[in-house]
Amino acid sequence: MFLVLSTSLSENSRSRILARFAAERLRSKTVPCQWVDLAELPLPTCDAGPCYADPNVQQVNALIQEARGILIAAPVYNYNLSASAKNLIELTGKSWTDKVVGFLCAAGGQSSYMGVLALANSLMLDFRTVILPRFVYATGESFSGNEIAETDVEQRIDELVDQLIRFSTALHP
Ligand SMILES: Cc1cc2nc3c(=O)[nH]c(=O)nc-3n(C[C@H](O)[C@H](O)[C@H](O)COP(=O)(O)O)c2cc1C
Repeated sequence: MFLVLSTSLSENSRSRILARFAAERLRSKTVPCQWVDLAELPLPTCDAGPCYADPNVQQVNALIQEARGILIAAPVYNYNLSASAKNLIELTGKSWTDKVVGFLCAAGGQSSYMGVLALANSLMLDFRTVILPRFVYATGESFSGNEIAETDVEQRIDELVDQLIRFSTALHP
């Protein structure tokens, strides 16, 4: 099973548009795909204790454990992925072990292009997560309303989805 996680809490999130497109592409390839939107599944802030018993944390944790390949869609805030994305990792820790993970990012400008790396590094170091070497990074001009406006971005999502399936199948046949 593949999992697409949309981590933006914004009502008009652009990374959610990327995530939806990726989930549609996965489903069009008839691979099983689950969808979680943190705007609809509120999570507590990680407190290293009672938070782990929260039913929503347990729900998303179970999906992460079950998935062999995961796409994280996230906003870039302060040159990093958003606190909501990091908090999700803090809440679910070891469930990321050996997963294949790709990133779809929405940002305000081009200068935060490397914003994904801190979280990607932590996943690799802590949980031996296999990070896809390709990721999607899109800024405002790539969107028109609730749609992706650039075929180049759509093509990059297609390539990320193909790579996710290829890596996941090779590592977890
Ligand atoms: C608190 C905050 C910090 C931000 N920091 C950055 C940043 O460092 N670099 C950048 O390119 N865009 C930054 N942005 C712009 C967001 O990345 C952009 O609005 C993006 O669309 C957010 O993703 P979302 O639409 O999926 O919520 C920031 C926005 C907010 C609200």
